[in-house]
Amino acid sequence: STSSMWGGRFSEATDSFVAEFTASVGFDQRFANQDIAGSIAHATMLAKAGIITEAEKDQIVGGLTQIKQEIADGKFVWSVALEDVHMNVESRLTAIIGDVGKKLHTGRSRNDQVATDIRLYLRDQTDIILGLLKRLQTGLLDLASEHTDTIMPGFTHLQTAQPVSFGHHVMAWFEMLMRDSERLIDGRKRINQMPLGAAALAGTTYPIEREFTAQLLGFEGICQNSLDAVSDRDFAIEFASSASLLMMHLSRMSEEIILWMSAQFGFVVVPDRFCTGSSIMPQKKNPDVPELVRGKAARVFGDMITLLTLMKNQPLAYNKDNQEDKEPLFDVVDTVTGSLLAFADMLPNLIPNKENMRAATMKGYATATDLADYLVRKGLAFRDAHEVVGKAVALGVQKGVDLSELSLDELQGFSDLIGEDVFEYLTLEGSLNARNHIGGTAPNQVKMAIERGRQRIEQL
Ligand code: ARG
Repeated sequence: STSSMWGGRFSEATDSFVAEFTASVGFDQRFANQDIAGSIAHATMLAKAGIITEAEKDQIVGGLTQIKQEIADGKFVWSVALEDVHMNVESRLTAIIGDVGKKLHTGRSRNDQVATDIRLYLRDQTDIILGLLKRLQTGLLDLASEHTDTIMPGFTHLQTAQPVSFGHHVMAWFEMLMRDSERLIDGRKRINQMPLGAAALAGTTYPIEREFTAQLLGFEGICQNSLDAVSDRDFAIEFASSASLLMMHLSRMSEEIILWMSAQFGFVVVPDRFCTGSSIMPQKKNPDVPELVRGKAARVFGDMITLLTLMKNQPLAYNKDNQEDKEPLFDVVDTVTGSLLAFADMLPNLIPNKENMRAATMKGYATATDLADYLVRKGLAFRDAHEVVGKAVALGVQKGVDLSELSLDELQGFSDLIGEDVFEYLTLEGSLNARNHIGGTAPNQVKMAIERGRQRIEQL
């Protein structure tokens, strides 16, 4: 027999390359704390169920607590020969407390252990990400409330469409992130189910008390089928999907900020501390943070596809393939966390250039729909009104002026329904104020949406 933890059956030591190739300790040591918490709960349950003695449990808990401290102090020596975080911790436990340490793994397998660790880890990370999302959303509410009356062009096809409030635009971002928060909260329920007790795949012969262990670890429930418990990683894929949608949203926001920051748009100033310069062009100030977030969305999508692909051909139950779930998952967590940190600082500090936004809104006939709606109110059918306004716009284009700069005579040349009062509907403020319903861009509606938003993030 060899000296490894499973050496009883083996007649030669693992090939040194194979040992390194199959090891995961280089990355799974990240959830050492979850592993130790899971082991403490497991040992506590074993004692309660009379499977080990109270004294043995106390020794095990003492040893694990010491190991936790050694890791925190950077004194723990990780060994690739011990393959993964689980066997590193268990081996150290036996070194500290002696043979009693060998009882910890009673009624347990690394298969239910690792599934438990991932779930505890993802539950914690979901909460951290939700905290960051809330910080960002609060920042957006603050930014929007300063700019309910700031007017910018709204676009479709990136062509001027209709005037909107900048605050309304920011609140669109808020709504996108609201759904991301809701998705993560919903997925947390499915993450927070305990695999322990499934053991290797079929359950265990000891009189374990799964509900008790689950309660100690803060799980909302226990996995109902041992084969499923050790093998599926759908909760992690779901997390990566929610994270992908979140990154897709951050990437769209990035794209807008990048466009708006260009000299050609000139809609916003991004504070210097979020930008970098060029090594050759002295005038440059580049939007590196939003560009990087836009790029990082690609990594997270890739990680999600990696996890999906990893899962798709695995027969029940546990397969070593699943060791490959960790690095993409950690990459999702790190990337989302970093992107949110950057955005939570940067977004509330965007400085809109109101004059440039207004001037841009005056180009492109943003109030043409308002003129058509005006004619409808005077009795014209919408399609006919559309035709009339199209002709007025053509005259404006030919003369190089906005609709509001055409004379009453010129406008009446297109329809005698047009009266003196038309000009109040052609102003940008008039256009905004007319869209006065829930979800519309009228500044008083935006103010109410912000107030509701403040309540909604508190109720999440
Ligand atoms: N390091 C393994 C993983 O990440 C732990 C479970 C290993 N179990 C086994 N029977 N090889 O999935």
